[in-house]
Amino acid sequence: MLKWLFGQTSSDTAEVKGPSGKGGSGSGKPEVLNLTPETVTQAALEQMATTPDPRLREIMEAAITHLHQFARDVKLTPAEWLVAIDFMTRVGKTCTPERQEFILLSDTTGLSALVNLMHDTTAMEVATDTSLLGPFFRENAPHFKPGEQICKNISNGEVAMYGRVTDVKGKPIANARIDIWQTDENGLYDIQADASGAMDSRGVFTTDANGNYLIRTVPPLDYSIPMDGPVGALVRAQKRHGMRPAHIHLLISAPDYRELVTALYLSTSKYLATDVVFGSSSEDLVANVVENDPNCPLKGMPAVHYDFTLARMSEADRRSGRVGSDPSKIGAN
Ligand SMILES: [Fe+2]
Repeated sequence: MLKWLFGQTSSDTAEVKGPSGKGGSGSGKPEVLNLTPETVTQAALEQMATTPDPRLREIMEAAITHLHQFARDVKLTPAEWLVAIDFMTRVGKTCTPERQEFILLSDTTGLSALVNLMHDTTAMEVATDTSLLGPFFRENAPHFKPGEQICKNISNGEVAMYGRVTDVKGKPIANARIDIWQTDENGLYDIQADASGAMDSRGVFTTDANGNYLIRTVPPLDYSIPMDGPVGALVRAQKRHGMRPAHIHLLISAPDYRELVTALYLSTSKYLATDVVFGSSSEDLVANVVENDPNCPLKGMPAVHYDFTLARMSEADRRSGRVGSDPSKIGAN
């Protein structure tokens, strides 16, 4: 599906049909489209109707229909269109292996949240709610034993996270893989804080035979999205604060279960209702940090107790591939 994204083959380009012009030989008039603001959309759709890939055809037909209607609705001027082209060009130029400005644009416009929420409705079972993957997930994070600390600097104190990973009926899932990543003591991800590429405040844990996990980390902090690029300029122009509520990202997977990309948001954050990327979309993902939780295996440490449930993997899940792949790989090929 959509193999054009990954480069054409000679067979893809072998048959290129011309436009289906109106008028014709014998009318005495040249074959031109004689377009108006109302007819150009249909002309574009007719020309794209030769697209062999049905999903690409469906997506592009809808995209062009809505994009043209948007331009008509706002009466887009040539000068404004060039501003938009300039903006998108700068979004692209801002992208590096460490920074994905297009994901930020998608996040701050709510499109990432929409795609996630629609994906959730396709699950065959109701499991833990999802949240945004965001631009800071990295593959190949270091593995830790239960209870080990993932952060190098614990000057802001430590927090324990514990609980179970089960299926929707409560059956423990042993050997589930838990990727965790979050901000450091300064509210930065390692990608932002250390240009050397060294990993910090992230790691991989594995559940035990009873589905239990135990993680030691530090309190995540509210943080601003990167505001020094074109997306930040847009957010400022809209008089938005650009802040995300403090949260801990998690990616949980196990064979034959749907991969869970989620995050826990601290109940004490003042940005829960105004998250600039609309990630804190479920009250079920709001977690309390409890002092002296008697059930926490790490005694005396502030703790977050959260049990995760995974839905069984459907055939559609198997075909669609991972949802938690490393954003730094985008555009790398
Ligand atoms: Fe985040």
